[in-house]
Amino acid sequence: MPRALVTGAARGIGRAVAEALRDAGYEVIGTSRDPAGITDPPSGVRFLPLDLANGDSIAACADQAGQLDLLVNNAGFSQAGPLCETPWPEIEDLITTNWTGVIRLTRAVMPGMAQGGRIITVGSLAGRIPLPYVAVYAGLKGGLESFTKALRLELAPLGGTACIVEPGFVKTDIRQDLFVDPASPHAERVARVRAFRAESMARAAGPEEVAAAVLKAAQSPNPKAVWVAGRGARLFNVLSRVLPAGMFERAYRRKLGI
Ligand SMILES: NC(=O)c1ccc[n+]([C@@H]2O[C@H](COP(=O)([O-])OP(=O)(O)OC[C@H]3O[C@@H](n4cnc5c(N)ncnc54)[C@H](OP(=O)(O)O)[C@@H]3O)[C@@H](O)[C@H]2O)c1
Repeated sequence: MPRALVTGAARGIGRAVAEALRDAGYEVIGTSRDPAGITDPPSGVRFLPLDLANGDSIAACADQAGQLDLLVNNAGFSQAGPLCETPWPEIEDLITTNWTGVIRLTRAVMPGMAQGGRIITVGSLAGRIPLPYVAVYAGLKGGLESFTKALRLELAPLGGTACIVEPGFVKTDIRQDLFVDPASPHAERVARVRAFRAESMARAAGPEEVAAAVLKAAQSPNPKAVWVAGRGARLFNVLSRVLPAGMFERAYRRKLGI
């Protein structure tokens, strides 16, 4: 039975991924910062504690997980607000969790991975086509795409691989901290972008669509590096590639009202 570690598996996308892998015959180990506090854990999934902001926690989790066939780097959160109005400790917190923690955990499990092991990271379409006022989140997700592509080349001679699954908006209760000064010159535009996000989230795909893409990436004999997940996200991604860059940006700004 192949063995998978899915970070942030108690809810949202991670939970759907854990359930899809379990149903496909994987032994699934999920993580949460507080496994004892999960009120309705997904059945058949064993939980380990993991806080991506804590190096000791990462080392202990990698150690307890043992030999893995698959790591799904899913856990993370998001943040919004004009860059210069977002307090530095908050930015650092995001970097520590969404970037440093992901790299640390990947690095910690790699030496013990089974022959042909896979690393699948949940990125975001925001890493390719960012919304305004999520500069650091988008930058980190974009960075994870390059991280994945480089790791893929590193793993290929060993028979392993790495992929990134990039969803557009997904209907979950993802944490998104908002930082805007009361007298911000950006306030109106931030409000318009927030409204666009809220409308998009309301009609977004469910986490199952992302889980289906992760499962395909896990099972495909020769998986591609980047999987854009969700109908709207795929169309948007194609438009951003086929339209001239200036035309796409003008249309995008009009749509966002900025
Ligand atoms: N929802 C979207 O629209 C969307 C779109 C594109 C990409 N994504 C990406 O999808 C991934 C999952 O997001 P989601 O929408 O499913 O959000 P979610 O429902 O809030 O789930 C996030 C998970 O991350 C875990 N987590 C948060 N901080 C952590 C930390 N410091 N250490 C370890 N685990 C931590 C949480 O686990 P515990 O609280 O149990 O510890 C939780 O299970 C994220 O990487 C996100 O950036 C989401």
